[in-house]
Amino acid sequence: MKLSIIGTGYVGLVTGACFAKLGNTVICVDIDPEKIQKINNGVPPIYEEGLDRLLTMYKDKITATTDYRDTLITTDVTFLCVGTPSMKNGSIDISYLKEATKQIATILKNKKSWHLVVIKSTVLPGTTQQIVLPLLEQYSGKKVGIDIGLTMNPEFLKEGVAIHDFLQPDRIVIGSYDDRSRITLRELYKDFSCPIVETSLSAAEMIKYASNTFLATKISFINEIGNLCKKLGIDTYEVATGMGLDCRIGRPFLDSGIGWGGSCFPKDVDALIAWAKEIKEPTRIIESTKEVNIDQPFRLIKILQKHLPKLKGKTIGILGLAFKPDTDDIRDSRVIPIVQELIRNRARIKAYDPQAMDNFKTLFPTIEYCQSATDVLSSDAILITTKWKEFTTLNFQGKIVIDGRRLDQAKNAKIYEGVCW
Ligand SMILES: NC(=O)c1ccc[n+]([C@@H]2O[C@H](COP(=O)([O-])OP(=O)(O)OC[C@H]3O[C@@H](n4cnc5c(N)ncnc54)[C@H](O)[C@@H]3O)[C@@H](O)[C@H]2O)c1
Repeated sequence: MKLSIIGTGYVGLVTGACFAKLGNTVICVDIDPEKIQKINNGVPPIYEEGLDRLLTMYKDKITATTDYRDTLITTDVTFLCVGTPSMKNGSIDISYLKEATKQIATILKNKKSWHLVVIKSTVLPGTTQQIVLPLLEQYSGKKVGIDIGLTMNPEFLKEGVAIHDFLQPDRIVIGSYDDRSRITLRELYKDFSCPIVETSLSAAEMIKYASNTFLATKISFINEIGNLCKKLGIDTYEVATGMGLDCRIGRPFLDSGIGWGGSCFPKDVDALIAWAKEIKEPTRIIESTKEVNIDQPFRLIKILQKHLPKLKGKTIGILGLAFKPDTDDIRDSRVIPIVQELIRNRARIKAYDPQAMDNFKTLFPTIEYCQSATDVLSSDAILITTKWKEFTTLNFQGKIVIDGRRLDQAKNAKIYEGVCW
């Protein structure tokens, strides 16, 4: 099929590259000309394992442009993958989505053939039907369900393993407005062997929020259990193994630590809470999930202060800045409040991350960034904040290490403490 992707961030570019690999012709559109140039040179503007290889291998199948018009006219299906960031009140900003929808609809006005619009951005239940659909009709002068198809197809990929997750998902959710759209999207996904769940537009939107909020809750839950276990001298990871073997529970997302971050969980949890407030429904569990997560990084600092009571003037090494390994994404990384707290206590910071230092520099330009993980080891104490594989080869002997991510290799340090185990 001939596909267009609007918004070439983590989701859009991975979606485009994977569909190109599957034999489709893909045109990516973004408002950022720098990103477009990089993609056309085979260089991903983000770090995601394997993405550079896909862009190079399938360069005859995937191109990028800032031009909506030609793209919309020459493709049949358009995926909307623009960002839906948090606003101050926790709700999401859908202005990028609205703007992109208006641009698409304006061009579809003069397109003779049927065109399918697929919403892949994470949006609150009701958005596709109540906001996207009327904008498409208003700006195109056409009828959705007849001249224009509309589906909501949420994305569940995890950054760091995004290509694997896209190509081998646990399930695909297709929320559709009309049958032709549903059948077209099913055809596009015909080579995928996972279950395909067909739903209404708003159920598809809700599946995404419910899934992310549940996963965030699972992590906050094990962190709370971990805080209890630490006090009682119990190894939380042994508990997680014992719990996780129960097929009703499952082991993934039971790694206790300094909490969840990234571009999705915090934003989606906040959005669901804000939306529930608007419709006057309590969200007690989800609010507690968030509270536990806010508190968790500060526990790392409290443990550090047990060993170094006065942080002023001390050099604290930080291993890992990205919100998780194998990505350069620092959005809502749990390392951010840790660095803020260390700065507040006038500690000196030496930090290292294999991929995320450039992004972190935009938030904290004045802390010291090291050339290698080994350089961090000369600090008065070391915090492990992201579990990058390369940290497993470090020699922590003779060091003070406070671990926020359970790096077993650090246990031979002179002083070793885990945040919640
Ligand atoms: N990042 C993830 O792991 C992930 C996973 C699943 C779902 N999502 C959801 O997918 C959506 C995109 O997330 P992301 O992380 O890829 O965002 P991102 O910020 O990395 O990328 C968004 C891109 O959209 C572009 N853009 C903005 N307005 C545009 C317009 N009018 N026309 C064309 N391009 C435009 C931006 O320049 C940017 O490159 C969000 O709703 C997010 O919640 C993200």
